Amino acid sequence: MKKEQVVNCQFSVWYPIFKKHTIKSLILPLPQNVIDYLLDDGTLVVSGSDHNTQQTHTNNSDSNAEEDIQWSDDETTTTVTAPEFPEFTSKVLEAINALGGRVFPKLNWSAPRDANWIALNSSLQCHSLSDIFLLFKSSDFIAHDLTQPFLLCSDQDSPDPVINYELVLRKWSELIPGGEFRCFVKENKLIAISQRDYTQYYQHISKQEEQICQAIQEFFSQHIQYNFLDEDFVFDVYRDSLGRVWLIDLNPFGEVTDSLLFSWEELASGGEISQQQVRLPRLDHGKSSEAYVLLVIAWFSLHTQEGPAFRYTTSEVTVQPSPCLSYRIPRDFVDLSAGEDAYKLIDFLKLKKSQQEDSEEEEEEEEEDAPQ
Ligand SMILES: Nc1ncnc2c1ncn2[C@@H]1O[C@H](COP(=O)(O)OP(=O)(O)O)[C@@H](O)[C@H]1O
Ligand SMILES: [Mg+2]
Repeated sequence: MKKEQVVNCQFSVWYPIFKKHTIKSLILPLPQNVIDYLLDDGTLVVSGSDHNTQQTHTNNSDSNAEEDIQWSDDETTTTVTAPEFPEFTSKVLEAINALGGRVFPKLNWSAPRDANWIALNSSLQCHSLSDIFLLFKSSDFIAHDLTQPFLLCSDQDSPDPVINYELVLRKWSELIPGGEFRCFVKENKLIAISQRDYTQYYQHISKQEEQICQAIQEFFSQHIQYNFLDEDFVFDVYRDSLGRVWLIDLNPFGEVTDSLLFSWEELASGGEISQQQVRLPRLDHGKSSEAYVLLVIAWFSLHTQEGPAFRYTTSEVTVQPSPCLSYRIPRDFVDLSAGEDAYKLIDFLKLKKSQQEDSEEEEEEEEEDAPQ
């Protein structure tokens, strides 16, 4: 993967080419002071100047004394004021309104998928700039876009291309994860398709395997193939309930992009990629070896694929945890802080009490054992 391939996969590069086949979106240049604010590791302070500011997450001057916790040991208290970006804020609100009031936010390449747990609605759906800031400031994926977009590129010695950072606002669409697929293109050939949400088993995928694969291949050959700036890339699609295929995203062909149910070794090797369920017919004791050879030949002619390898999670595979789980804080912390699970709180207090008693006992024992 070369730096130029990463540059080509920026939203503002591919969106004009494939506008007709993707979700309506607006692109706003990110002013430098907003970039600085996003990169600043300091307290998360969100400006209250837009109407939908979520007070729960802010630390503004209206907050009552109880919430004014001084986090540092420093004796001098510094007042943190919310930065204001009035012009940018009004542009963002205008764009959100033009897109129907609910948007999905991204930067040049990434969405803050790793931070959705922090939002009040546990979703990436945003109604205001403060919703967007909260997600962006909590996301490692966003930090990656801002700080190391050319990570893992093979041409590290060449100078980094200049990047103009952009806020991408996409019209909010209720996408069903079972309808999402990732497609790998090498030398302008669609070589592999993977279920995107591979942690779950979706019955409809195994039932409609052929229709899905065919619809995606048609979409590729009619609208994508030879139309992009590169011949190696990865594109994500959504197949809606009517069977129509939509482009969701374009990604570089390389390790920065999750290879899902394939491995990058397989994808980059240039060799034939096998389908998922490669199971040879079993040799039945009653059959002669000649009959078995014929059976295997018949099996191969049935299973030799012409098109891309298509992989999806089958019921036999253990369903795995969500890949973004490691970015979250433990569920118990959330329950405790929200006070939603009274039993957990009682258990927690009991645990604290018994720990306290244990340490008191230990102290007493130590005192007894101590040399006189
Ligand atoms: N406009 C949208 N509305 C709602 N959800 C979306 C929208 N666009 C994408 N998503 C969801 O977010 C996920 C990540 O989006 P994507 O643009 O591919 O970001 P990334 O490149 O960071 O993974 C998608 O798989 C899809 O489930
Ligand atoms: Mg992507």
